Amino acid sequence: MKVLVVGSGGREHCLVWKIAQSDRIKEIFCAPGNGGTESLARNINIPASDIKTLADFAKSEAIDLSVVGPEVPLVGGIVDEFLRRGLKIFGSREEVARLEGSKVFAKEVMAKFSLPTAEFRIFDDKRQAADYIRTRSAPLVVKADGLASGKGVFVCESTDEALAAIKIIMAERKFGDAGGRIVVEECLRGEEASILAFSDGENILPLASSQDHKRIYDGDRGANTGGMGAYSPAPVITEALNQKINSEILQPLISGLNNEGKKYIGMLYVGLMLTDSGPKILEFNVRFGDPETQAILPRLKNDLVEVMLATIEGKLDKVTLSWERRPCICVVIASGGYPQEYEKNKEIFGLNQTEKLPDTFIFHAGTRREKEKCFTTGGRVLNVAALGDTLDKAKARAYQAIEKIKFEKMYFRRDIGWRALQR
Ligand code: AMP
Ligand code: GLY
Repeated sequence: MKVLVVGSGGREHCLVWKIAQSDRIKEIFCAPGNGGTESLARNINIPASDIKTLADFAKSEAIDLSVVGPEVPLVGGIVDEFLRRGLKIFGSREEVARLEGSKVFAKEVMAKFSLPTAEFRIFDDKRQAADYIRTRSAPLVVKADGLASGKGVFVCESTDEALAAIKIIMAERKFGDAGGRIVVEECLRGEEASILAFSDGENILPLASSQDHKRIYDGDRGANTGGMGAYSPAPVITEALNQKINSEILQPLISGLNNEGKKYIGMLYVGLMLTDSGPKILEFNVRFGDPETQAILPRLKNDLVEVMLATIEGKLDKVTLSWERRPCICVVIASGGYPQEYEKNKEIFGLNQTEKLPDTFIFHAGTRREKEKCFTTGGRVLNVAALGDTLDKAKARAYQAIEKIKFEKMYFRRDIGWRALQR
């Protein structure tokens, strides 16, 4: 088979790496890819958002299966376009990708199918939103409706902060059209965890649980980022909790959509807050999580291509996932300054010294290669994942590998996994 992976981050390098292990693979392409995907796939210089050119490429190369990493092409309808052209693709169609593309749509779906989530109100008028906020007591959460690279959510400890968030989203339009509407919701307290699941429209197949660290600094402090590290499994998700999530969230969502003629096919990511009154949905993503994927897939024993094909063909009831018992941890190495301003094009040293380390996987996120050298190109630069007999040992292994890597102003958190280790 010829496979095309769309995207350029650590998640996509990890997908390429896992797909490359399948017996069915003849050739892998990655668009646009990065300095890491290049060693396993042919990087194709087409941006992940350029749906038409990607479809042209897949058609002309006779790609057998395309796999989409990021949300932007999914929300933009890449799956519908590929299917129209008779191309096989793993991902969710536009009508359900809205679960991530519009927080208003997602909340409406949660309400319609009685899924547990924070109480909320929707506004398209900033004055009405401000009036409402003045009647509520803080803390409150204010969210821009559309895609905002994870930056459109404001957890506000005071009324003034919530009013400021409305101004940023709706008056200043910091996120453009994504700020046409907002969701104002109750602030939930608890521990966060993610559940990812394959769905073929009827059957749900959850992956091993995981947790990521969204904040930039140790102790989960500072600004929200795309994710600074992750681990799998998340010990906070017990078997009983898993069943509850399955029966109260995953199943009702998929069958509710199905009853409306909207089949959810692809990867579903549910961000959860585990509150005293049970798990509540924070968000839906319609794709693999980043960096959760880099902590989950090294533990998956199945052939990923087989599972993806079964998803597309509606045969997930015939698949059982099998997992490496050992936990996996993934630490993100970023450019100093991220998630705000940061510098690029720094040469990365020491990568070759990490190649032979046992049970250690280096996934590139924001890198490019130039002959023998490797340079930074983004905020999140590298993901160092490691398996270990215990989470502690996995963590030690990942940080030992990081010791060998150097670039100017490199930054990483030193406490990935702390919640699980504290248990
Ligand atoms: P989202 O993109 O909606 O998942 O929001 C990003 C982050 O904001 C989440 O990972 C949470 O840390 C936080 N968050 C979102 N909604 C809430 C809420 N209702 N209560 C508390 N924290 C929230
Ligand atoms: N790690 C969170 C996400 O992928 O959205």
